[in-house]
Amino acid sequence: MIKVESLSKKYGGFAAVDDVSFTARPGRVTGFLGPNGAGKTTTMRIMVGLTPASSGSATVSGRRFADLPNPGLEVGVLLDASAQHAGRTGREILTVAQRTMGLPAGRVDEMLDLVSLTPTESGRRVRNYSLGMRQRLGIAAALLGEPEVLILDEPANGLDPAGIRWMRDLLRGYADRGGTVLLSSHLLHEIEVIADDLVVIGNGRIVAQGTKSELLAAAGTLVRTRDVPALTRGLVAAGLEYSEMTDAIRVDADPDVVGQVALATGVALTELRSAEGAGLEEMFLELTADTQREGAAA
Ligand SMILES: Nc1ncnc2c1ncn2[C@@H]1O[C@H](COP(=O)(O)OP(=O)(O)OP(=O)(O)O)[C@@H](O)[C@H]1O
Ligand SMILES: [Mg+2]
Repeated sequence: MIKVESLSKKYGGFAAVDDVSFTARPGRVTGFLGPNGAGKTTTMRIMVGLTPASSGSATVSGRRFADLPNPGLEVGVLLDASAQHAGRTGREILTVAQRTMGLPAGRVDEMLDLVSLTPTESGRRVRNYSLGMRQRLGIAAALLGEPEVLILDEPANGLDPAGIRWMRDLLRGYADRGGTVLLSSHLLHEIEVIADDLVVIGNGRIVAQGTKSELLAAAGTLVRTRDVPALTRGLVAAGLEYSEMTDAIRVDADPDVVGQVALATGVALTELRSAEGAGLEEMFLELTADTQREGAAA
């Protein structure tokens, strides 16, 4: 269990993290979603004691990270996969961690095997690792102490499609066995397929949170027609909120309500369905549009 309460971080007058609260629960994968610069890494760094908070608190299994006697046994952390000691080999990095945590030596080989780093690769210096290899090593290091909680910042970064699938299965299995997983991403598709719960952040503030199904249900209805002006007049008359997308209209109402409006307005529809199938992307863009700094205004 990870609990974040009213967490804020200010750099001068700039609020990188602004009154953020959420809980990541055991047995669930919690996706921490937000555009670049939203405050994901800062929040995670505060959780693991690398950055001091300006106010608020973050606890892992009920305690502050700094108060955990042997943190690696309680929480596995992957923040910046490139932050490993570049002059050491992958095996050396895991061995140092294994000894620090007081784990049996065999654990290193188990983990190398789990993340599919071959003996040749694990004997190579990390400065010569590809990004994907660094991520695999980082995941091995995070899992080494068999922690109950995982905090992973953009773990899929640099992984190829097979690697992403592998990681997804790994995290799913971990959560299904009762583990708590918090993983961040600025890419929705990655999170959409794996997360049970979502926390969406934009400009340091939480803009949405809930279970994935709740958030998908809140996405409303997607409707298409050749006569957009007539349909939008009907929607306005019915008092429904809508947004026009490139080739469709998304309405904040159930499909049957929108269908009734179309019928009453005498507009033929070419498509009418729950916006769920359109994926989280629209919701994400919409939720973050007014908190994003560039590009989104267009
Ligand atoms: N040490 C610092 N000093 C000043 N500003 C900082 C510092 N660290 C982070 N920030 C700012 O805080 C904001 C949030 O940064 P953060 O790295 O948490 O975003 P992020 O959500 O992880 O983004 P990305 O998806 O690009 O990784 C950014 O505007 C960043 O420039
Ligand atoms: Mg980041």
